[in-house]
Parts: sequence; structure tokens; C-alpha cells
Amino acid sequence: MKILRHPSEVFPPIAFARREGASVGLVPTMGALHAGHYALVRQSASQCDKTVATIFVNPTQFAAGEDLARYPRTLEEDLEGLAAAGADFVFVPKDSDLYPSGFSTFVEPPSVSLPLEGAFRPGHYRGVATIVLKLFNLIPATSAFFGRKDYQQLLTIQKMVDDLNVPIRIEACDTVREADGLAMSSRNRYLSPEDRQRAVGIYRSLQRTLGEFNSGVRNVSDLEAVLMRSLHDCNIDQVDYAKVVDAETLEDRTKLEAPAIALVAARIGKTRLIDNWLLGTNGA
Ligand code: PAF
Repeated sequence: MKILRHPSEVFPPIAFARREGASVGLVPTMGALHAGHYALVRQSASQCDKTVATIFVNPTQFAAGEDLARYPRTLEEDLEGLAAAGADFVFVPKDSDLYPSGFSTFVEPPSVSLPLEGAFRPGHYRGVATIVLKLFNLIPATSAFFGRKDYQQLLTIQKMVDDLNVPIRIEACDTVREADGLAMSSRNRYLSPEDRQRAVGIYRSLQRTLGEFNSGVRNVSDLEAVLMRSLHDCNIDQVDYAKVVDAETLEDRTKLEAPAIALVAARIGKTRLIDNWLLGTNGA
């Protein structure tokens, strides 16, 4: 695996591979990698001739008051894991190389980025869309791989790519979970043992909501009430949102007809976690 550190080093080898006819998969990350990230790399390696991962803790996607300095950084381990998962290149740029002094151009993200995370983390998706477009420009990949755990991010990036005619295919990959169902996240490492026990309540509450949906409930306020009550029963009371919305637009509905998704953001101790579960259309 070749480590590329400067933006000027990254375009030529990827453009060369593309000229030779190779397909190239891109897996953008902020490091602190876990099995979910490695699953993205493995999926890329199985579908594409070359795989490029990136590790960059993007300062512009941290909303005011969020602690960029506290974000975990585990570069040595990450590099070992990426090589083992099948990455051919890893791009590890410096902040000042991607955001030199005077940087002032940002992507205005699409409307799907406005509710939920967008409302609780103002400016977050502007930063995500900007860095992802920069990476797409630096690394002329054929596909880019993103996890469904950050579902709103996935929709935001897909819409940006459609709206701006970016020549890349977005591949969505399933959330990877711990044995008890907790979605893997770089932030899980902050959880105390007690909070770790409590955190699985997010998954359990999503499952309870799915159970209601599968038993035929289509009224959104009933489903959201189940979700909220279940979080409360699991001692999760600091809930930013617990919503059931249209899965394509993330718009509110009163009754579900199109595919829907239940999404939760909650604080467990000092750690903010998100998770979601897609609800099909034909209640089983
Ligand atoms: O999902 C992430 O880790 C980040 O938001 C991303 C896509 C790498 C952009 O910084």
C-alpha cells in the first residue's frame, strides 16, 4: 500500500490507473477506523481494480462547539488495517494542504441535508460536501463507498453528485454492528462501560419501531411515540431527534406510503451517537 501525503502526489497515479482502463474505488474516512470502514475498503477491493482510502479529519465539518481536537487519531493502526483490508493507496493530507490560507469556496449542500443532523449541526454538511467534492476532484475514482450508518450524509453526497454532474458512482454499504447490535462508530471508544451497555438501547429502540411497522402501523406519530418511549425505557433521555421520515427526501410524513426510515441521534454520557433503520413498504 502506497502512502500519499501531498495533493500533488495523488492525482497522477490514479489518473494513470484510469488511463490503463482500471476501475478505482475511493473510501473517504476521518481515520479512527473500525470494522465498518474496513468493510467499505473490502467492498471496494472486491468491486474495483484499485482502492484508494483517505484519512483526513476535516475541520470544516465540525459545527461550532464540537471538539475537533478531541476527535480520535490512530494513524498507525489505521494504516495497518487499511493494508490488511486491501487498500492500494492511502491519501493522508495535512489541513494546510487542503485548506491553505485564503481558502473560501464551499459547496452549498442540497435540501436533503437541512433537517435532522443539518438542524443540530449547522454547517456540518457544507463541510462534508466541500471536502468530499475536493476528494472527488483530487482522486478521479470510478466509485466511492459510503456507509448507510451516516444515512443523511449518503443522500447528501448522492444528490450533490447528481446535481453537479460529478462523474462518479456512489455505492452504499450496510452498517456494520457489534454482536449486540450497536452500530460501529469511531465515537464508541469514548463510551464508559456503563454507557456502552446503555448505547445498545438505540438499536433496540429502532428494532422495536421496526416491529411496530411490521405489525402494520403506518401512522408516523404512533411509530415515533414507540421509538421515543423505547429510548426512554432504555435510559436514553438526551435525544436530539427520534424520527420516522420519507427515506428518499427525509421529509416529514403523517402516514407512510413510500419507503421510510427511522433515525435517532442521542447523547450517551458525553458521546453523541446516530443510527437508523430502513422500514420497507410492505409490512411483513
Ligand atoms: O463519514 C466521514 O467519515 C466523513 O464525513 C467523510 C465522508 C470522510 C468526510 O470528511
